[in-house]
Amino acid sequence: MFKEKLKTLSKQFNIPGDFHFAMPYGSGHINDTYAVDINQGGTDIRYIFQRINHNVFKQPEELMNNIMRVTEHITRKLDGIPDCTRHTLTVIRAKNGQPFVRDAESNYWRVYVFVEKALSYDVIENEQQAYEAAHAFGEFQKDLVDLPAPRLFETIPNFHNTPWRYEMLEQAIAEDKAGRAASCRKEIEFALARKADASLLVNLQKNGELPERITHNDTKLNNVLIDNVTGQGICVIDLDTVMPGLIHYDFGDMVRTSTSPAKEDEKDLSKVSMQFNMFEALLRGYLKSAGEFLTPMEKHYLPFSGKLITLEIGVRFLTDYLSGDVYFKVHREGHNLDRCRTQFKLVQSIEEQYEQMMKLLESI
Ligand SMILES: Nc1ncnc2c1ncn2[C@@H]1O[C@H](COP(=O)(O)OP(=O)(O)O)[C@@H](O)[C@H]1O
Ligand SMILES: [Mg+2]
Repeated sequence: MFKEKLKTLSKQFNIPGDFHFAMPYGSGHINDTYAVDINQGGTDIRYIFQRINHNVFKQPEELMNNIMRVTEHITRKLDGIPDCTRHTLTVIRAKNGQPFVRDAESNYWRVYVFVEKALSYDVIENEQQAYEAAHAFGEFQKDLVDLPAPRLFETIPNFHNTPWRYEMLEQAIAEDKAGRAASCRKEIEFALARKADASLLVNLQKNGELPERITHNDTKLNNVLIDNVTGQGICVIDLDTVMPGLIHYDFGDMVRTSTSPAKEDEKDLSKVSMQFNMFEALLRGYLKSAGEFLTPMEKHYLPFSGKLITLEIGVRFLTDYLSGDVYFKVHREGHNLDRCRTQFKLVQSIEEQYEQMMKLLESI
C-alpha cells in the first residue's frame, strides 16, 4: 500500500511532524509522483515525493547531484525575493544528508517542497500560456548561465545529437528489420532530403560559434507551474534532463510541442500546423527573459531550432517504426509512423512560414 510506504519514507527525510495523508499526484509519465501531507505544528504541509525512474535515468545519484547544484544556485539568486520557494524547486534532504533515500527495492526517492497555488497544464490553451512558459524557461537558462564548474553530468548522453539520430535512421533503413521500409518511402525521402540540416548547429558549436549552455531539455508546458491567481509561469520543474546543451534544444522543443493544435499521433494531418500566433508568443516570452544573455548568433537560429528539433523527433519515430517499435510504446498498428508523419507535417509548415518567422525575429 503506497500510504504505508510513503509514511515509512517520510520518516527518513528531514521533515518534522507526523505523516497524515498521501495520494498520487499530477500526470507525469516518467516518475511516480505523490502529494504527501505532513502535520506540522497543527497544520498540514504538503510535499512532493517522487520515485525516480531508473530505467530511463541510469545514474540517479549523478542526476540528483545535478539537481542540487542547479536548485541551490537558483535559490541563492532568489535570496530576498518574496515566496522564493515558489520560484524554484527546493530539495529536502534525507536525515543522513543525502538528497535521496533508497528503499528496500533499491528505488531512489526524492522530496521537494510543494509549490502551492500553482498548477501545470497538459494541453496549451492560449497564447498567454505559451508566452509564460517560454518566459519561465528563458529565465531558468538565464539563472544558470553562471553556474560554476565543473560541467553538469549528462543524464542522457547524445540526447540531441541530431547527426547521430540520422546515422541511426540510415542503419534502420539498411537493416529494415521489420520489413516496413517499402511502406514509408515518402517519409524516408523527406528525412533524407533534410540531412544537411541535422549537423548545422552542432557544427557551429564545434567551431565555437554557438556556446554550450545549461538547458532543461524537456520544455513542455506541463513542466512549468502557472500561478493560479496571476497566470504567470513561476516555477520550472522536472529537472531530470537538465544538462549541458544548446539553448536551441529548449526553444526548438517548445515550438514542436506548443505551436500545433493537433496531438502528436493525430491521423488527420490537415489538423497539424505551426500556428504563427503561438510561435510569436513563444518567441516574445522567451526573448523577454533570455534576450539578456543570448548572443546574436544564438538568436538568429531560434526559428531554425523549431524545425530542427521537430525533424529530429520525427526521425526518431521513423527509426523506431523501421526497427519494429522497440523504444516508444505503441498502442496501435503504425503508431510510430503516424507520429513521424505529424512531426514531418509540422516541419513542412515551419518551412512554409520560415521567412515570416525570421522577419518577426528581426522586428523584436
Ligand atoms: N514541487 C512541486 N510542487 C507542486 N507540484 C509539483 C511539484 N513537482 C511536480 N509537481 C506536479 O507533478 C507532476 C509530475 O512531476 P514531474 O516532475 O514533471 O514528473 P515527470 O517527470 O513524471 O513528468 C507535474 O506535472 C506537476 O503537476
Ligand atoms: Mg513532467
